[in-house]
Amino acid sequence: MDIDVRPLSDALGAEVLGLDLRRPLDAAAVRTIEDAWLEHIVLVFRDQSLDDEAQLRFAARFGDLGARARPAARRPEGADYNASLMLISNVRKDGRAIGSLPDGEMWFHHDMCYVEAPYRGTMLYAIELPSQGGNTLFANMYKAYDSLPASAKTRIEGRKALQIYDFTMTEPVAVHADTDLDAYQHYAQPVAITHPFTGRKALYVNPLITARIEGLPKAESDALLAELLRFTERSELVYEHVWRPGDLAMWDNWCSCHARTDFPADERRTLRRCTILGQPLHE
Ligand code: SIN
Repeated sequence: MDIDVRPLSDALGAEVLGLDLRRPLDAAAVRTIEDAWLEHIVLVFRDQSLDDEAQLRFAARFGDLGARARPAARRPEGADYNASLMLISNVRKDGRAIGSLPDGEMWFHHDMCYVEAPYRGTMLYAIELPSQGGNTLFANMYKAYDSLPASAKTRIEGRKALQIYDFTMTEPVAVHADTDLDAYQHYAQPVAITHPFTGRKALYVNPLITARIEGLPKAESDALLAELLRFTERSELVYEHVWRPGDLAMWDNWCSCHARTDFPADERRTLRRCTILGQPLHE
């Protein structure tokens, strides 16, 4: 099998050519993809034709599959839909979206960073797309860490950031330090993690889910977070993926975070997501 890996940008990302992901992959192909994934952080496979089972079969070659946290009865896809899959869709039936995260822009975030063992990876398969927008932005959080001034690296050493599941799509976490956090899924993660497989340091804060840096007065935490979150404005750290139907993107959720651009509310957008389980993260 000839697999060709071509970088997509200077920030991160590579396109992988030469594979039909419906077909069984031998161990050498899985190793090649795994190595490319560690190096490029985001991989894109174009022109795929994947049903639910084919997507899950491919994902399972890279680790144990994640399962939905939301109880079956409350999932928009319906209780019978596979618990390892999530539709991201603005398509509505009887006025209700058939998937999660339906509409519009979404700020940068790491998936599930508010649990002890965040997903290692996410795979998103594009089914139906609007004529414009709805692009996914990926930020290289190794580069975000590496480009911090030495003084900022010293200030975040040993520090943890509180991640709280209380987000809308484009507003910072509303819950404050003095709120009873029991009502929210939350977890304090290192501000910078060491990637368990590469050993490289990656910044692990984002504007959507990170509430504060622990152990600092609010004003100081806000100022430090604002400094750390400047990566979102730095185009040299970010790759913007313009989706085509049949694209499968897989990203490393420990050393990248992602965002979505706005798109017309009256145009359909549907992608299918699955995840690969992770492990606790350490500084
Ligand atoms: C997500 O954050 O998982 C959604 C990304 C997207 O819809 O492009």
